[in-house]
Amino acid sequence: MCGIIGVVGGDRALATILEGLARLEYRGYDSAGVALQSGNELWSARAADGTRSVEALVERCTNAPANMTVGIGHTRWATHGNPTEVNAHPHLDCGNRIGLIHNGIIENHSELREHLQSLGHGFRSATDTEVMVHLMEEELKIDGDLVQATRRMLPQLRGAFAVAIISADHPNQVVAARRVSPLIVGSRDDVSFLGSDIPALMGHVDEVYAIEEDHVVDLRPGTISVTDLEGNTVHVEPVTITWDIEVAEKGGFKDFMTKEIHEQPEAIAATLADRTRDGFVALDELDLDEEDLRTIDKVVIIGCGSSYHAGLVGKFAIEAWGKLPTEVDIASEFRYRDAIFDASTLVVGVSQSGETIDTLEAIKKAKKSGSKVIAVSNIVGASMTREADGTIYTRAGLEVSVASTKTVLAQVVALELLALRLAELRGTRSAEEIAEAMADLQALPAALTQLVDASEGPEAIADAVGDAQDFFFLGRHLGFPVALEGALKLKEISYLRAEGYPAGELKHGPIALIEPGVVVVAIVLSGPMAEKMYSNIAEVKARGATVICVAEDSDHIVDSLADYVLRIPDVAELVAPVLAMVPLQQLAYAIAQAKGFDVDRPRNLAKTVTVE
Ligand code: M6R
Repeated sequence: MCGIIGVVGGDRALATILEGLARLEYRGYDSAGVALQSGNELWSARAADGTRSVEALVERCTNAPANMTVGIGHTRWATHGNPTEVNAHPHLDCGNRIGLIHNGIIENHSELREHLQSLGHGFRSATDTEVMVHLMEEELKIDGDLVQATRRMLPQLRGAFAVAIISADHPNQVVAARRVSPLIVGSRDDVSFLGSDIPALMGHVDEVYAIEEDHVVDLRPGTISVTDLEGNTVHVEPVTITWDIEVAEKGGFKDFMTKEIHEQPEAIAATLADRTRDGFVALDELDLDEEDLRTIDKVVIIGCGSSYHAGLVGKFAIEAWGKLPTEVDIASEFRYRDAIFDASTLVVGVSQSGETIDTLEAIKKAKKSGSKVIAVSNIVGASMTREADGTIYTRAGLEVSVASTKTVLAQVVALELLALRLAELRGTRSAEEIAEAMADLQALPAALTQLVDASEGPEAIADAVGDAQDFFFLGRHLGFPVALEGALKLKEISYLRAEGYPAGELKHGPIALIEPGVVVVAIVLSGPMAEKMYSNIAEVKARGATVICVAEDSDHIVDSLADYVLRIPDVAELVAPVLAMVPLQQLAYAIAQAKGFDVDRPRNLAKTVTVE
């Protein structure tokens, strides 16, 4: 989820790029960089200064040669390689003649890197991106044509990319291409522009052209030509920009929470990208000794809020696949009790920010006792990732809204990948079973796409129940963490009393509170617990509660039990929680909207909790 921009022509290339990068910071900001070209010169600068990266880049660019007419700029959201200057884009080839920026993930970067190293290319960064600039260097040796070289490079890549390339030997030219990741271009008078999205180009052009997958764009001053991989010219229809800057930053969505809910298919696809190699589960950043993982005898997962809920789902996967006893604890509790763990315990700290103080201190405590520690984080280089022995990154992109959405789903997926890796190393699941589970995970992005576009159901239900004051979220087994997460979302952004309960506990107290006016949200996932949930629903219905069910498409029984049903596609049991959380995000959102609350900035809350 990086931001990219490119300019060819005119006399303001650098200024345009720096202004554009400042507007693209919502896509990520852990480092930034620019490469400029003029005559036969290439000049580049990069900076990695956290949220100040673009500002720091501006300072570095005070030394840039004047009147450079061609340039590319990048603001990075790290996925492969820490957020350091050396990993910042643009990346340069061995001879510092080619500059390249990239948004996306190159899945086969390891094998490409090995191949390029065997040809003598020296790598400077830990990024997946750098393979592309060395590939370009190789391909340019053939005929020196930037467009042709790009056409030859693209089929060698697996994964997602929007890429822009300049070369010291190719004046007045930027070449760009995309697959999966977005790329738009536009031109006015004698200047042409490219960007990852509209804010990059706002104020410069009134119309943009959205580039299709595997098409190559040749940008020259004031002219743009688009061709396919065979070199055929492609006609692209322009789209008029009607957004103002605020709307543009939210990708046309009303707020960041809606945008982030819609980004969930992409976030899960990115978290799953490049996770198998030669038939084995590949968790490159984990970097833990295989023998250490093989010999552990217990797992403890620690987190706060939504991250704790993701941990609760992870427990099911680690127990089912890895056959390891697994505890899940709230970090602020774990820190202060005499928890039993030692060198044979694997402690997993789950945190979107990687900075939450309780989780950070909890993993420090675990490390002191000799336990192996893994961080699951969305922020490359965050404190927890530095503290831990190894990390699994969720690659959900920057999450701005305080209520976690795409990052929680990505945490569940990351923990399930860990569970599969443990199963593989410990031999508790066969290669076929692991491949099948991987395929179940890979089915999620398509199922999520179906779900995130269907917000009408939750909106209609929100209208009907929005005046209620008391909500109970009930679930069993894998449905219980989903119930906790649904209740938390509703509390956070709608300020309603919402409790998540294991449905089996109903009779041990909470059922006393059920009466007309109370809303029960029941999570009914297929499997052995479905029938028990039907009974619990009947019990609360009999006491006058209004019942909303989250259920799979194939479950027709809930139709006769519940007042409202929120549907999710049928998927394998262990991955179903990822889908079931989505309608609950949408329900909480719709209720908050109806009440006129600011969903992105709920009262009393902060995105990152660095104090106890
Ligand atoms: O950054 P972390 O994942 O460690 O944050 C933990 C919680 O503060 C966080 O999940 C919080 O509960 C969210 N606002 C939930 O939407």
